[in-house]
Amino acid sequence: MIYLDQAASSFPKPVEVIQAMTEVITEYAANPGRGGHALSMRASSVIDRTRQEMASFFGFDHSDRVCFTSNATVALNQAIKGFQFEKGDHVLTTSYEHNSVRRPLEYLKKTKGIEVDYFNTGKTEAFDLEAFRKKITPHTKLIAVSHGSNLTGKIVPIELIGELAREKGIPFLVDAAQTAGILPIHMNQMNIDLLAFPGHKGLLGPQGTGVLIVGQGIELTPIHHGGTGSSSEMIDQPDSLPERLESGTLNTPGIAGLLAGLTAVKAMGLDTIRAHEKRLTEILIQGLEKIQFVHVYGPTTDRLGVVPFTIEGIDSQEIAIILDQHYEIAVRAGLHCTPLGHETIGTSSHGTVRLSVGPYNTEEEIRKVIQAIEEIVDGYFG
Ligand code: ALA
Repeated sequence: MIYLDQAASSFPKPVEVIQAMTEVITEYAANPGRGGHALSMRASSVIDRTRQEMASFFGFDHSDRVCFTSNATVALNQAIKGFQFEKGDHVLTTSYEHNSVRRPLEYLKKTKGIEVDYFNTGKTEAFDLEAFRKKITPHTKLIAVSHGSNLTGKIVPIELIGELAREKGIPFLVDAAQTAGILPIHMNQMNIDLLAFPGHKGLLGPQGTGVLIVGQGIELTPIHHGGTGSSSEMIDQPDSLPERLESGTLNTPGIAGLLAGLTAVKAMGLDTIRAHEKRLTEILIQGLEKIQFVHVYGPTTDRLGVVPFTIEGIDSQEIAIILDQHYEIAVRAGLHCTPLGHETIGTSSHGTVRLSVGPYNTEEEIRKVIQAIEEIVDGYFG
């Protein structure tokens, strides 16, 4: 199988991830933070180490504000629904947002009366910071952007948006679902107040892991309530992080796997990963653009290893099925949970086929995919 659905979940995982998770399950899968015994302490210790490593990797000084969630969607829901909005508050976001940002915002629009502005980031052109700036109003209480589009791979300049947010005194939320473990992210230097990301994509960890890092001075209302292993006598959630936002038993095997994934990413180096994915993406785009009836979407520069395409008159799902069943190539077709993104590039009615690459994909695999698509086109039009 050639796996080109890395934007949905990375595969394969480094062997160290498997080893770390197996070690937890076989040696110390006790409840972290819920007991003083040796196994519980060992479980707590791997979680604490992961918090510290995450804080340091993402340029943040306070590991106690690194909160574990079960995925990026839960992290984003906590950031958005937990934010202290009032009726009439305005949120500036973009037209490339995933439903995990859009739906919580739309929910708050209905339930709390906030206003949401989806800035059109455009099809291929560079992000227009000055036009974005003009969308800020005196009521803007949050700027929320996806660092990289899961549809076109377009990269948004979060360092510039962060500067703007700081200048205006507006909290800045970054959805790094597609970029954590691929592009450098430094919360302090980029003025990011809230950073949400999954563990199972670029960070090469297992599914069921996600992180929300909460900047100093940001107070979120918990969206979940329950046992935190601390302050059990209190009727309310404790005030301190991370417990305030982490009710229930944490996913120790998953978090240990995430730490191993992060360690593997650091060993490879972001520059190496990025350069490799860029090269594969260029070969893929050049190959696809040569095929008659194939249309490739997305920016020419500043893009991740994510390439959506269509073949004239052929349903995207059908192409994905042929790639899967005939060629053993895994891709994702449809709307990719980002209908706004499809509106932006004009593919809402039929969706696209999305190819996405990761650090373990090879040039040979990319050439086989191009050949498979050539054959599919020949089969229909030849
Ligand atoms: N958000 C993931 C994707 O783009 C699941 O496929």
